[in-house]
Amino acid sequence: MQNLIQFFENINSLDHSYDLNTINENISLFLNGLNTGELRTAEPDGLGNWKVNSWVKQAILTLFKIGKLADMSIDENFKFFDKDTIPLKPFSKDNNVRIVPGGSSVRTGAYLAPGVICMPPMYINIGAYIDEGTMIDSHALVGSAAQVGKRVHISAAAQVGGVLEPAGARPVIIEDDVMVGGNCGIYEGVMIRKRAVLGSGVILTASTKVFDLVNETILQSTPDRPLEIPESAVVVPGTRAINTEFGKKYGLTISSPLIIKYRDEKTDARTSLNYDLR
Ligand SMILES: CC(C)(COP(=O)(O)OP(=O)(O)OC[C@H]1O[C@@H](n2cnc3c(N)ncnc32)[C@H](O)[C@@H]1OP(=O)(O)O)[C@@H](O)C(=O)NCCC(=O)NCCS
Repeated sequence: MQNLIQFFENINSLDHSYDLNTINENISLFLNGLNTGELRTAEPDGLGNWKVNSWVKQAILTLFKIGKLADMSIDENFKFFDKDTIPLKPFSKDNNVRIVPGGSSVRTGAYLAPGVICMPPMYINIGAYIDEGTMIDSHALVGSAAQVGKRVHISAAAQVGGVLEPAGARPVIIEDDVMVGGNCGIYEGVMIRKRAVLGSGVILTASTKVFDLVNETILQSTPDRPLEIPESAVVVPGTRAINTEFGKKYGLTISSPLIIKYRDEKTDARTSLNYDLR
């Protein structure tokens, strides 16, 4: 691993004398590490927090920087063009991932654990990590470097944003057993803790203030800590009043998701996964 880190440092600073074979070998080694889930852009630190592997994110950026545009077409009619450092993802039935036919794409460098289900059309970008039993529903996006836990449901049209830049920034993290409702958007390093539920249409960014009606607190990101949705929180879309004279005059409000409750048996019943489908 240390050799790989050093390789990408040298390549990135353009200070190297590697021949083409060595460059290609190291790139394959790196992509293989991402594809098998051995290399991750962020991982649990064992103490309940996450550590960002900045060098992995930087190395992905380097693949874009040093790559040249290449023809990746499947045939004469099915044409694609991408950087030659980011070839098509190697996939086989042995991966035990269900990719239902029709319009989905998984970019190389994304890890999909056995038992993941992909409903068409959906897209999973480089550096993403999707753990066992998770379902990515139709029209969903899992952006670059995003980390998604076990038995998560990313519902139809939900957008999980990708963050590659800056390299040190935490990617979006969704922990085990989370339910992300249809049409949600999770961006800019927001973290969703275990078993939380996002009701349909909740949008979370680094600027979003979330009002916890149960504990009567306001959750928001700080310069050194992105927004975190607590374990088992049930978040639904909400608004708050804009209390400037102008805001009052026109009755304006601004989007402000609410923690309406913490997960109970009713929530479990409505969000439980149907294992017959899996
Ligand atoms: C969040 C959700 C799971 C409901 O959870 P729940 O624990 O059953 O919530 P409850 O029905 O007990 O609702 C609690 C309160 O929140 C409100 N509420 C619940 N979900 C809400 C939502 N999505 N938007 C606005 N308010 C909502 C209820 O009206 C209720 O308000 P009240 O206390 O004033 O009566 C559900 O609303 C939801 O959004 N599911 C996602 C569906 C989806 O996207 N499926 C994807 C298929 S691909």
